[in-house]
Amino acid sequence: MRLEELKEILSEASQVFVLTDENVAQYWLPELEHWLGFEHAEEIVIGAGESHKTLQTAQEIWETLLENNADRQAVLVNLGGGMVTDLGGFVASCYQRGIRFVNVPTTLLAMVDAAIGGKNGVNFAGCKNQIGTFAEPLEVMINPICLSTLPEREMLSGLAEMVKYGFIADDALLKVDDRNYEQYILRAGEIKREIVEEDFKEHGYRKVLNFGHTIGHSIESYSLTTSTPLTHGEAVAVGMWCALWLSIDQCGLDEEVLDDYCPKMRLLLSEAEWDFSAKDIDAIMAYLDHDKKNVDGKHGFVLLKDVEKPLYDQFVPDELVRQSLNELMDYLSDL
Ligand SMILES: NC(=O)c1ccc[n+]([C@@H]2O[C@H](COP(=O)([O-])OP(=O)(O)OC[C@H]3O[C@@H](n4cnc5c(N)ncnc54)[C@H](O)[C@@H]3O)[C@@H](O)[C@H]2O)c1
Repeated sequence: MRLEELKEILSEASQVFVLTDENVAQYWLPELEHWLGFEHAEEIVIGAGESHKTLQTAQEIWETLLENNADRQAVLVNLGGGMVTDLGGFVASCYQRGIRFVNVPTTLLAMVDAAIGGKNGVNFAGCKNQIGTFAEPLEVMINPICLSTLPEREMLSGLAEMVKYGFIADDALLKVDDRNYEQYILRAGEIKREIVEEDFKEHGYRKVLNFGHTIGHSIESYSLTTSTPLTHGEAVAVGMWCALWLSIDQCGLDEEVLDDYCPKMRLLLSEAEWDFSAKDIDAIMAYLDHDKKNVDGKHGFVLLKDVEKPLYDQFVPDELVRQSLNELMDYLSDL
């Protein structure tokens, strides 16, 4: 959709609401009206961080929409990182059985991944994205200028998802780093769109987007209960290491792929406080049992036969998963 078309839709909406978090609000909320050309929007500013991606926050936003008499012709603009776009998409897709929403991602991770593809949700009972919907935004509007205020650690988190696309779809993205990422943003988004178009509801092929996420989500969920939480991308970075290790064992992936990835993983973790070791593996394994990709209690992994040749629904025995985590902990303790 052209920007002019989007502006017209917003000008014709009964009301425009902007959902954002407290960090993004101070930098980019004043700019947004100017970019999108609407005259008045009700601003809904929530706390920043993954701990706010909850049903409780969703409920508070629904209450605000109701108090302001939002009807089905209202539009919700989600301005922020993946936390805001996931939560805002969920809120919009449930309110009065669905109102339109626009995503304006402000983190690299949201620009290349979270804001695209129509998966919305909140965390529940300590598990990531346990409650959610599939509903596409009306539009995803990317303005890389937003990255000028993004902390380095959050930038690296987005890079991890870009590297993921390198493994599953286009090895050119394996070259991405913290200096050249801007030239790869459009390509990364394009890969995500192509995969989603083929399988919107994740019955099959879309699962390849979960490369690195099976163990990644478990480590992320676990880390959030500790004093050294990881970003989503950091967790995916180590999840990809384990997935590559398992791919060598289970699918005959060339060991060089893992060796080549190690310096990249070190870059992706360079701002993280990594404080995990073999003692944490039991707790991480427990989170694996809640993974949405499990089938009949078995853990479904995305593994690689080769770079750009992902295989989904690869069921790996728990013992081997443990072993991959042990190897990871060993590798990271030697750094
Ligand atoms: N729906 C999907 O397909 C999908 C895919 C991947 C990840 N996700 C979800 O995305 C979330 C992670 O997203 P994220 O990494 O963007 O985290 P986030 O939205 O929590 O943002 C990270 C931090 O950066 C701040 N921030 C955002 N933009 C900023 C800017 N321009 N300048 C300064 N600070 C800024 C935020 O306030 C926050 O503190 C997770 O909840 C994850 O589950 C969803």
